[in-house]
Amino acid sequence: MLVLGIETTCDETAAAVVERLADGRAVIRANVVLSQIAEHAAFGGVVPEIAARAHVEALDLIVATAMAEADTSFASLDGIAAAAGPGLIGGVIVGLTTAKAIAMVHEKPLVAVNHLEAHALTARLTDGALFPYCLFLASGGHTQVVAVRGVGDYVRLGTTRDDAIGEAFDKTAKLLGLGYPGGPRVEQEAAHGDRGRFALPRPMIGRPDADFSLSGLKTAVRLEAEKIAPLSDQDVADLCASFQLAVVEMVVDRLRQGLRIFRQRFGPPTALVAAGGVAANQAIRDALLDVALQDQVALIIPPPALCTDNAAMIAWAGIERLAHGLHDTLDTSPRARWPLDQVVKPAAAAAPEPAVPEPGSPTWPAAAADQAAPDPVPSDPVPPESVTPPSA
Ligand code: KG4
Ligand code: ZN
Repeated sequence: MLVLGIETTCDETAAAVVERLADGRAVIRANVVLSQIAEHAAFGGVVPEIAARAHVEALDLIVATAMAEADTSFASLDGIAAAAGPGLIGGVIVGLTTAKAIAMVHEKPLVAVNHLEAHALTARLTDGALFPYCLFLASGGHTQVVAVRGVGDYVRLGTTRDDAIGEAFDKTAKLLGLGYPGGPRVEQEAAHGDRGRFALPRPMIGRPDADFSLSGLKTAVRLEAEKIAPLSDQDVADLCASFQLAVVEMVVDRLRQGLRIFRQRFGPPTALVAAGGVAANQAIRDALLDVALQDQVALIIPPPALCTDNAAMIAWAGIERLAHGLHDTLDTSPRARWPLDQVVKPAAAAAPEPAVPEPGSPTWPAAAADQAAPDPVPSDPVPPESVTPPSA
């Protein structure tokens, strides 16, 4: 099965072509990502209007480049997948509308992919992860522990009560004058800082749930910075290192709880899986390895370029949904908010590992898959106010 994926929910304009071979293995035939960092850097965060316009300008060329790199034609595709949310709505409209146009002209099925679902399934693209697994999804807009039980079958075990982890990295970077995007900058500074210099709080540690809270930590960094201002380069590095250590310790504790809750409710997971931009952080990757070793569970972390936003994960999620006969109509709406536990499930979602249907079986125009009953699990809390988007 061969699918074109399009990603435009935030500040990356991306297109990819992914193939699932008859034996189930995935091949990324092209994966093109154009970052808009330069356009947003001066504003210290993503500016939605600038992002949407930049997607309009770049997307046609990015899709053409991906198709050329994959050495394929639209006629050869089995479907067109686009991230239909959650994210900055202007950008989502650009990607979804483009996908609809391609699907309509070439009479191919359209798959409106939930961006979070794409992050959640990436470990199956890279490592063939088997259900059920325990997912740690940490990005600019979301921080969740999720039981991934099948395609479309996600149960949230923990979430953040305020800021997402990536958002906390971004805000910390901003207040320390490190610019945007914050995560990688804080990690770089932390590498030559003294992580023991500032005694920052470890919110939530020791609680029996698997929830996170970041806003107190971010405020504590600000108060420490104000106490010693003006900051030297070493002060900044020490604050970054202390902040990163506090985040790491919180993640370790919260994931131990998450795994415990997972086992209680669903039995042993096949793996602990990480996804989202924050999983590109080496200190967090090392901490996840400690958790997995101690918990005696396999660990799967996709390579950093597939943890941050990309279209290969969208194409792959499209393949997974098409294989279950799930596709969408051309009147599917883009969605700024779309909690992971509200994606449409395949009819046989309760089955642990569904059989792989024949590639290319769905035909256009698709059945109204998105009219099926939504999962009754309550939705995410309202995303915090920020220029960082409520994407993933
Ligand atoms: O999943 P993602 O690429 O985009 C969405 O949020 O949808 O995640 C981006 C987030 C940003 O907040 C960014 O600062 C954070 O991931 N991030 C990192 C690192 N690389 C990206 N955070 C910590 N350390 C990193 N190396
Ligand atoms: Zn994302």
